[in-house]
Amino acid sequence: MRRQRWLQNQREQRLKIAKKELPQSALPEHDGTGRVKLAFRALEKDGAISSERTITVPTGVSAFDAASWNGIAIDSTCGGYGTCKKCKVKITSGDVPISPLDNRAFSATELSQGWRLACLVRTVENISIDVPPLTTRPKAATVGVGRQVILRPAVQKRYVELEEPTLHDQRTDIVRLLDAIDDIEATVSLASIRALPQILRSSYFKVTAVFIDQALIDVEPGDTTSIRYGIAYDLGTTTVVATLLDLNTGTPLAVKSMLNKQQPFGADVISRISATMLDPLALDRLRSLAQATLSELTNEVCEEAGINPLHVYEVALAGNATMTQLVLGIDPEPIGVAPFIMVSADYPDVEASELGISIHPRAKAVILPSLGAYVGGDIVAGALASGMDRDKRLRLFIDVGTNCEIILGNGEKILATAAPAGPAFEAASIRCGVRAASGAIETIKIEDGEFVIGTIEDVPAIGICGSGLVDACACLVQVGLLDHSGRFVSDEIAATVAPKLAARLLQREGERVFVLTWSGKEGDLNDSVYLTQRDVRELQFAKAAIATGWALLLEEFGVEPSEIQQVLLAGSFGSYLSPASAIKIGLVPKLSVLRIVSAGNVAGEGAKMTLLSAQERHGANALLQEIEYVELSDRADFNDKFVERLAFPS
Ligand code: FES
Repeated sequence: MRRQRWLQNQREQRLKIAKKELPQSALPEHDGTGRVKLAFRALEKDGAISSERTITVPTGVSAFDAASWNGIAIDSTCGGYGTCKKCKVKITSGDVPISPLDNRAFSATELSQGWRLACLVRTVENISIDVPPLTTRPKAATVGVGRQVILRPAVQKRYVELEEPTLHDQRTDIVRLLDAIDDIEATVSLASIRALPQILRSSYFKVTAVFIDQALIDVEPGDTTSIRYGIAYDLGTTTVVATLLDLNTGTPLAVKSMLNKQQPFGADVISRISATMLDPLALDRLRSLAQATLSELTNEVCEEAGINPLHVYEVALAGNATMTQLVLGIDPEPIGVAPFIMVSADYPDVEASELGISIHPRAKAVILPSLGAYVGGDIVAGALASGMDRDKRLRLFIDVGTNCEIILGNGEKILATAAPAGPAFEAASIRCGVRAASGAIETIKIEDGEFVIGTIEDVPAIGICGSGLVDACACLVQVGLLDHSGRFVSDEIAATVAPKLAARLLQREGERVFVLTWSGKEGDLNDSVYLTQRDVRELQFAKAAIATGWALLLEEFGVEPSEIQQVLLAGSFGSYLSPASAIKIGLVPKLSVLRIVSAGNVAGEGAKMTLLSAQERHGANALLQEIEYVELSDRADFNDKFVERLAFPS
């Protein structure tokens, strides 16, 4: 029910915004009939200009929309709906009024320098806009726990030296070829034999036949059996990872990751689905952005390994149900509204070209099947890699994210569910939240009563990412500055329980905040990184949703939390999460920290396994029968349990 209500609210809110029912105070007047010029300059980290572009748009569109339609990337996690405060741009010429939200997002100095939120900049006159660099490579787990597999890829090659035809041997070219290959019952398509006469004769009848399962997809001159590659993709809502594999040895040759180019449409799947509901052109746009992401990564891994993309014969794709449908150009709306229906749990043979990648023209794509609308192919891949169907220990698998997927199993019985955790772990709804990239606070610990902050790449802090947020709350609870209900304590109590930190508890715009790092002089909040009371609440909602998910699965299974022998924290976020902090805030059951394991990018590992072993591919499909999906949204006790788990454990 919670997801249903949340989806309903999201949709209604966005429809209102789409109908321009926003508070007029937030928007300057415009007549919507004229045209204006927008001059964009994309900046590098050091302030250098990386590209310049001037576009003409109708008056009244937002600078964010205008940029997005024209392929100019501006950061966002809300998709241009004025809620994430991430779309910061600098107006260098033109008069753009300050909206109430700008006032909350920027300091007075920044406002006077021209900083505005791009989605609230309505274009009523020609303006010039500087766009800060987008984080295109957030920190991401590229490898994870996996199992050894018996190397038997579906891509097979057979080198043959054929007898040349004579007047006494007038077998056709294809019969001559297939007669020499006795271990594969081949199926042949017109495309695969079109060039056969020429290839046979130019290579003196010494050729290599390329098969995927039984299908002959190509015939190559000479002996190319040492050359066969595949690419495994983990198509995440936020981050996409590609791994190039040598199918002869099973060795990964190159791994690359980048931000999903769909990001300007919002941080979570609901934003992407909403976009397709509101704009008939959005599905095509989202499809081409996902494909562009896969295509760029494909080129990068091939280039790094120094291989020809035409020698990539098969790819595997693990993504959640929405990402999978979007990249295949299938309308995801039924996934977004109750009763949450996917077009299909599994997919028939898909040509790799359907994914917009340029590899071998007859390469195939394996699409990992989904268990449900919110337990997708990425989780099936993760369950495969972590052996949820074969390990006899009672194990809890949690993929922490906006939508959190949870599996509980002991090899005999496996239950799965999804909990709508919301965007807190992506730091999307957090006041000083940033993606997990250079300068993000990712670790916090207490030493001698002081906070010790760790940032990605050890550079000055620019904000806090999800793992830092979890650490921050865990530490604040530990030192007594946050009580167990999640409220910052009074100044008097703070001075007693944490004298060295008490001065960091301040009031900002009527809200209690705790300063993690000062930017300049102590007491000045401008450019400092701090945590607000609202941020703490966001984290509490997120962790309570997850904790309710696993608590209900344990109940359904008939076991106690103490019986869990291992907790696997999966996904990019889960991998960087401190197990001790996760226990302290109640995100995972209270167990020995040694039983909590970071599993890394298990979705990518599962995708790799399906490329390396045809048997594992069947195993992934078999999981659909073995795992029982438990729907939480119709559980009468969900809300009570959720409320119980909002508090931080004592
Ligand atoms: Fe502008 Fe989110 S606030 S895109």
